[in-house]
Amino acid sequence: MLRYDRRHFGSFIDDAHRQSLQPRVESAHRMLVDGTGAGSDMLGWRRLLLQDDDGVIGRVADTAARIRREADVLLCLGIGGSYLGARAVIDALSPYFGGEGPEVLFGGHHMSEAYHRQLLEHLRGRSVFVNVISKSGTTLETALAFRLVRDWMTEAFGDEAASRIIVTTGPEGGALNRLRDEQGYEKFVLPDDVGGRFSVLTPVGLLPVAVAGIDIRALVDGARQSARRLSEASNNAALDYAADRFLLHESGYVTEIMSVFEPRLRSFGFWWQQLFGESEGKDGMGLFPVTAQYSTDLHSIGQYVQDGQRKLIETFLMAGEEGSLAVPAASQDLDGLNYLAGRPMAEVNRVAYEGTAAAHLAGGVPNCTLWLDEISPESIGDAIYFFEHAVSVSGYLLDVNPFDQPGVEEYKREMYRLLGRA
Ligand code: PA5
Repeated sequence: MLRYDRRHFGSFIDDAHRQSLQPRVESAHRMLVDGTGAGSDMLGWRRLLLQDDDGVIGRVADTAARIRREADVLLCLGIGGSYLGARAVIDALSPYFGGEGPEVLFGGHHMSEAYHRQLLEHLRGRSVFVNVISKSGTTLETALAFRLVRDWMTEAFGDEAASRIIVTTGPEGGALNRLRDEQGYEKFVLPDDVGGRFSVLTPVGLLPVAVAGIDIRALVDGARQSARRLSEASNNAALDYAADRFLLHESGYVTEIMSVFEPRLRSFGFWWQQLFGESEGKDGMGLFPVTAQYSTDLHSIGQYVQDGQRKLIETFLMAGEEGSLAVPAASQDLDGLNYLAGRPMAEVNRVAYEGTAAAHLAGGVPNCTLWLDEISPESIGDAIYFFEHAVSVSGYLLDVNPFDQPGVEEYKREMYRLLGRA
């Protein structure tokens, strides 16, 4: 179960102030749990978890098994909430090198010509399946990539191409549904009441994750247990995290860094970044979410975090790890590292975290730590629900609708105008 360590936040938050906020926090929690707050028609991500219906998981697992049998590559096309969740889970739970099963690749999450040209070259001669993911079915980045990939698939697989394309989209409407009706692609539905950034535990995320060989039932189960536990207001770490961040936001902090010491959690940070950025950042409110991977980034932004403008708070996402790769003793100790001999590298990494958290605290950066017992499907599912619950409550504390994203439309309007779309 995910643990919240707020000790380093403590010295920046007045206890009495925190206590007096509690009724407001619990009322924000009730708005979520009872579905009475702004955007309550977008709570499908909670509804699906709590209703215990595994029908769709079975279908996803069947399709994933077929792809795992027949494919060398699954190419996922999607952007934002239609991409970041799958990537976060796959990166967190896959080995760094090698691994078995089809390679899961991503496209349509930007419009780099070089990337997509090289991607198609990379696919030549391989057995490719495509999962195009777009709730609206109209997102330019994804639609553009899908047009290129569709042509490539027809060239490569002829009549068989359609049976290798799977569409994940809204129940009806949009270009993807039209194409699917015409071509007969297999389809998974993202229900209307689930927003993109809350969709990782629907087929949007589950199909790519299952193709990567990850146990999606365990993932969903971890989230489900978290959803049940966090439905109660007492002993609720998601509420504590939301409340502490809110008080720090109120006292003038503007940026929150999610820092990880395990590179495979980096993509989880990018998922978190979208979840919090799109949910909180409206009406002039919200902490600006950024992600860092330490100790790598201590050698780039570490100086700023330690010593730059004091407007930062930091959330460490850590996982317990038993170390087995011990530092070897060297007969001459020319590099001076013998004082570490026999200690596992994981322990050195953990001490680096402890030192960083203490130094940043001393430098004026309030920080907290969220602890996963280990990096497993269950614990990642737990963390996904934890953050979804926390950001919903946080949105209500900030008095914004945590489930819309009106600001995202602005760049699209300008881009379409410049591109001359009718
Ligand atoms: O969270 C969101 O709603 C967005 O990030 C969307 O997921 C993103 O814009 C992609 O939209 P769509 O799935 O409609 O292509």
